[in-house]
Amino acid sequence: MILVTGGLGFIGAHTVVALLDKNHKVLIVDDLSNSSISVLAGIVSASGKSPVFEQFDLKNKQKTEQLFRDYTIDGIIHFAAYKAVGESTEKPLDYYENNITPLINLLLCAKEQPGHIPFIFSSSCTVYGEANTLPISENEPIKMAMSPYGNTKQIGEEIVRDATNVYANIPSISLRYFNPIGAHSSAKIGELPLGVPQNLVPFITQTAAGIRESLTVFGNDYPTHDGTCIRDYIHVEDLAQAHIAALEFIQQSNQPHFYDVFNLGTGKGQSVLDIIHAFERVSGQSLPYVIGKRRKGDVVAAYAETTKAEKMLDWKATRTIDEALYSAWKWEQQLKR
Ligand code: UD1
Repeated sequence: MILVTGGLGFIGAHTVVALLDKNHKVLIVDDLSNSSISVLAGIVSASGKSPVFEQFDLKNKQKTEQLFRDYTIDGIIHFAAYKAVGESTEKPLDYYENNITPLINLLLCAKEQPGHIPFIFSSSCTVYGEANTLPISENEPIKMAMSPYGNTKQIGEEIVRDATNVYANIPSISLRYFNPIGAHSSAKIGELPLGVPQNLVPFITQTAAGIRESLTVFGNDYPTHDGTCIRDYIHVEDLAQAHIAALEFIQQSNQPHFYDVFNLGTGKGQSVLDIIHAFERVSGQSLPYVIGKRRKGDVVAAYAETTKAEKMLDWKATRTIDEALYSAWKWEQQLKR
């Protein structure tokens, strides 16, 4: 079965549904530190199938070892991590402990298994920082991380690469996500930020739903077409599919010591105002917003060069920004009921 850590989180849950849809058996480990048990019912309802669920913290090495004794694990997709950039600057050690220790525990267990254990690591385009060249290809140099969160992704990639280099049975891929948004088309699962959302799209949908008074656009004096920052927003269902493509690529190519990195984006850049206007169009809601100051640590523009994933993984994002925003809105509306 495929072990999905953080499988009740936003990207994890969508990937679990995509795996179940393709008849994979799935084992979720999640400690519920930033997710809700209700997501499990959403997964069952969206897929019509049940994953196995174990609730524990992967920092616990004994429990992680026991998991590998209790189940036959033949692939790992490792999502479980903290992801709030701002919070990571206030609690750096919590971020290093939580994002690195479980990764090491999983790899230590995986290397002891008799067969090949493909390993997929959730990384981020944040490793590129303010890139020299747009669109950003995988050859873009890695910049010094701008936050402890970003650093955990850089260090995580290095740990995975170094482990794969030595242990032939953990062929691995690091996936560098651009900006995942949206929800499952069934509206049974979606993003569930605890507290005030830090990311743009959940803030937009909560504002439209009346939960937040207005959205603050973080700066409109950037050197872009409308002065607001540019990102590559990718539908979470496309992103989920990419994990299956990566897993199947490793399984089919069957190369010991395989390690590579892939960007996951659409290749298109959209500004904050572009997203606001697209949301207003697809939802029919007008969105109250104000222009505020720049947010510390934001890069001006980041969007992906996508040909490597297209060629090697035979995967490409197919859903539009309108579909992504519409699905996010449908999800937000059903949350209120
Ligand atoms: C960043 C990282 C991403 C990382 C993520 C974790 C980059 C390029 N991206 O995403 O890799 O995984 O953090 O959270 O480093 N905005 C507003 N108002 C808001 C919220 C956001 O104007 O209330 C703007 C931001 O300034 C930014 C855009 O919306 O320009 C997207 O912000 P957000 O959704 O937080 O994602 P990133 O910061 O791009």
